[in-house]
Amino acid sequence: MQKQFKLITALIFVFGLIIVINNSTFRMPGNQQNYEPIQPIDFSHRLHAGEMEVPCQYCHYGASQSRHAGIPATSVCMNCHKYVSATRNDLRLEEEQAAAEDREMRPLTSLEIIKIYSAMGYDTQGNPLKDKKGKSVEWVKVHNVPDFVFFSHKPHITAGVDCADCHGDVASMERIKQTENLSMGWCLDCHRKDHESLEAAPERTQLLLDCATCHY
Ligand code: HEC
Ligand code: HEC
Ligand code: HEC
Ligand code: HEC
Ligand code: HEC
Repeated sequence: MQKQFKLITALIFVFGLIIVINNSTFRMPGNQQNYEPIQPIDFSHRLHAGEMEVPCQYCHYGASQSRHAGIPATSVCMNCHKYVSATRNDLRLEEEQAAAEDREMRPLTSLEIIKIYSAMGYDTQGNPLKDKKGKSVEWVKVHNVPDFVFFSHKPHITAGVDCADCHGDVASMERIKQTENLSMGWCLDCHRKDHESLEAAPERTQLLLDCATCHY
């Protein structure tokens, strides 16, 4: 009786595992489609990459050279935020108020920009504080593939795959969101499609579907 019970549980477990692995849209923990966490600074891609058209690789310069696209250091933000301490809108409002009250304009730094300055070890006006060291901003990571999967940006960017094919229309996002499911089936679907356009090089098309290409 004991033995039979163990056998049945083992069989259920094995069948469960087969179902899970066969369903190629199954996802490992840590990989969540539509994940859109609140970030420590209210940074907007819509404003920077969309409206202001700052190129993706101005900030994510690792993408064409390495495995990771990378998250820019705060010093990259300072290229502009050394001079931009608040939005044009807030500056205009302060200007109007100062005129109405017949006084000088006060220096204006928005709460979100103060977070950049403080990460740099600067005061609220953006001036270095002698005894303060900078620390990096703890951005929340959105996209994750498990450790047993090898993914690198470089071959994709080199082959001309667009950021948007894998990350959606980031330039219209106020806050970053994972638009794709990043499952194995998702990777393979595109690698199979690529296979059709690469008919001329059968050894490459085989490589793109080989287990060892993505698994150590
Ligand atoms: C193009 C890349 C790619 C190839 C080729 C590939 N895999 Fe995967 N595989 C992945 C990714 C990505 C995941 C993780 C998906 C997730 O996070 O849920 C994964 C997950 C898995 C898992 C864990 C369960 C699951 O389905 O998520 C197993 C088992 C697996 N792969 C086996 C294989 C085998 C066997 C082959 C060869 C027939 C293969 N893989 C080929 C990308 C690939
Ligand atoms: C001015 C700098 C800047 C520009 C330009 C920029 N990004 Fe980002 N990006 C960031 C910062 C900072 C983060 C981390 C905070 C966040 O998630 O919003 C980030 C996060 C991301 C993430 C999520 C990373 C993760 O944790 O998984 C993706 C994907 C991304 N950016 C893609 C893009 C794409 C695509 C473009 C161009 C359309 C772009 N970015 C333009 C600064 C930038
Ligand atoms: C073929 C799909 C694909 C393309 C194309 C792609 N990414 Fe990614 N990106 C991913 C995956 C998958 C991850 C998660 C990687 C991990 O966990 O190691 C990721 C992670 C990121 C991250 C988080 C930090 C990092 O590097 O791990 C950023 C930022 C990012 N991508 C930006 C970009 C930008 C900018 C482009 C275009 C220049 C781009 N990506 C093109 C699939 C892609
Ligand atoms: C190419 C120049 C440039 C870079 C690089 C840049 N920004 Fe900006 N950012 C601006 C400008 C200009 C504005 C103001 C837009 C407006 O007037 O509405 C702004 C606005 C902002 C705001 C909104 C401020 C508020 O008061 O609401 C935040 C937050 C912000 N940026 C964060 C960042 C972060 C974080 C980085 C680095 C990852 C960064 N920016 C990099 C030019 C830049
Ligand atoms: C939108 C299409 C697309 C998606 C999605 C995609 N890939 Fe790719 N992948 C490509 C293309 C195109 C190449 C380059 C083919 C070439 O150079 O022959 C490539 C190449 C690769 C390579 C390099 C192969 C080699 O050794 O030359 C790896 C590794 C890889 N992909 C892993 C992944 C993984 C893991 C995922 C999912 C997390 C993924 N890819 C999702 C299109 C895609």
